[in-house]
Amino acid sequence: MMNCVQMWPEPVVRVQHLSDSGIRVIPERYVKKPSERPSISEPVDKEINIPIIDLQNLYSDQESLRQETASLIYDACSEWGFFQVVNHGISHQLMAATREVWRQFFQLPLELKQQYANSPATYEGYGSRLGVEKGISLDWSDYFFLHYLPMSQRDQNKWPSVPDSCRELVAKYSEEVVKLGGKLLKIFSVTLGLRENHLEQAFGGEIGACLRANYYPKCPQPDLTLGISSHSDPGGMTLLLPDECVPGLQVRRANNWITVKPVPNAFIVNIGDQIQVLSNATYKSVEHRVMVNSEKERVSLAYFYNPKSDALIKPVEELVTEDKPALYSPMTYDEYRVYIRTRGLCGKSQVESLKSPK
Ligand code: OGA
Ligand code: NI
Repeated sequence: MMNCVQMWPEPVVRVQHLSDSGIRVIPERYVKKPSERPSISEPVDKEINIPIIDLQNLYSDQESLRQETASLIYDACSEWGFFQVVNHGISHQLMAATREVWRQFFQLPLELKQQYANSPATYEGYGSRLGVEKGISLDWSDYFFLHYLPMSQRDQNKWPSVPDSCRELVAKYSEEVVKLGGKLLKIFSVTLGLRENHLEQAFGGEIGACLRANYYPKCPQPDLTLGISSHSDPGGMTLLLPDECVPGLQVRRANNWITVKPVPNAFIVNIGDQIQVLSNATYKSVEHRVMVNSEKERVSLAYFYNPKSDALIKPVEELVTEDKPALYSPMTYDEYRVYIRTRGLCGKSQVESLKSPK
């Protein structure tokens, strides 16, 4: 990492601890500005959902079904920045078991989890905030962040050793999710009209993959705060395994927030800032946020599939035309990440600010 911030600027408070303490009023630091608060009282629109893609259809014998599926993916990535993928080939049992092992981890006593307490130097481990600036707004969640790829960054000793099966499940799950990520990257290349390996090469040949297990404790005042503030994901793409019964993820669609209704055993896939840049904004990295509630805790596993840290990311030539000049200046993924980790999450200001002056 290029920046050398080693410590958090103030003592870290575990949100789970706040939640368990039985407070009826949440601390000021978690209270969002009125314009950012979720509109919990608004009825959830039963009809609208992000697109659902049956990945198997992409490999059908029927040419028309393959075409149709490819264009559904193109539309999802360019209009929503999000879709749910079913028939993705990953064992449902493995998915459920991995999510459960993380649920169990977060239920362990705080003292045990503190052994894995993270620092802003790498963010690896058990954490409760993003952004090192003192006094920044905080979100109603704890997390565990770990690296899987590149190999040089993988250190299983930093992964939880309890529950017993945690390391083994995370390794197996990671292998499968990374495989799916590779498949999707090829699909995105083709649907953008590029060679199958184009995005893979643009990612620098060696990808980064890291897992953030998110834990959203119950919240006594869910209408005032968010589990994760509005943000777009900085990396390449994200493969999210949401909680099987507690909704919470909302995706921005024009000026509305659409609550995702998870399909059982699906992954929620979204385009990150780096693919937005590479595709010269054909594919969109869309803002999303997480609502919390007073009834049930929520667990989700976000897998970030990223370019090599020193790959120079810029719009691919084939997608730069006279009508659509390059919208972004080149920047390595590492530089981009440092920028975000210092400032915390702030909507889409990062990728917007990358736009080259024209
Ligand atoms: C994330 C994220 C959504 C969720 O971790 O970046 O957006 O539902 N998570 O937990
Ligand atoms: Ni996200």
